[in-house]
Amino acid sequence: MVSGPAVPVIAIDGPSASGKGTVAAAVAAHLDFHYLDSGALYRLVAKAALDRGVLLNDEPKIAKIAVNLAVRFSGTSIYLDGEDVTDAIRTESISAGSSIVAAQPAVRAALLARQRAFRSLPGLVADGRDMESIVFPDAVLKVFLTASAETRAERRYKQLIGKGISDNIPRLLQELRDRDERDCNRASAPLIQLPDARLLDTTNLTVAEAIAQVLRWVEPVIPRPSMGA
Ligand code: DC
Repeated sequence: MVSGPAVPVIAIDGPSASGKGTVAAAVAAHLDFHYLDSGALYRLVAKAALDRGVLLNDEPKIAKIAVNLAVRFSGTSIYLDGEDVTDAIRTESISAGSSIVAAQPAVRAALLARQRAFRSLPGLVADGRDMESIVFPDAVLKVFLTASAETRAERRYKQLIGKGISDNIPRLLQELRDRDERDCNRASAPLIQLPDARLLDTTNLTVAEAIAQVLRWVEPVIPRPSMGA
């Protein structure tokens, strides 16, 4: 299997609930590339820790969990120790927990090789916070995908309502701001927009428009096989 620098990576970083996961997955499907949802790994670590009663600030124990994480990605489903946890890792408590464990350098180090292993032909679309700065600094395209905190809170609210879960926008907004604060101001691999990353502000864009914009940026950097080749 070909892996490593010969394999093109498209990296999409951005804050919580910016829609980067939806855009990244759609771009990967369009290009027939592999897809890495790196946030899911931090969510899985938080879930495994909470399930086992491990304190989220116990860095050595959390790092050990990260090293030994028995995870399987299958299509859009995610399995932890053989159990389907696709929805269980999307709760607000796991969101908050994942942002706490993600601030721990030993946890980030433990997940690094696991993330890079996703890089195989024909290519990879990876989304997260440090795809561009740390995990795939040689990505052929770097996108910083964001939206205003108010828009992100509203989108999350609609998502939850769609799932029959009631919440309120001021609370969601506060939680997003807390997470932004942790993800952007931590010492280890904070979320930043790199000088070579293209900014995609989706505040006033539909999902389809955001996907189309990324694909326009992809075109010149990913050589596509010519027709009939
Ligand atoms: O993208 P997400 O909301 O699923 O990410 C969950 C948490 O994991 C988020 O608070 C930040 C952290 N994270 C990170 O630190 N680095 C990544 N590459 C991806 C996510």
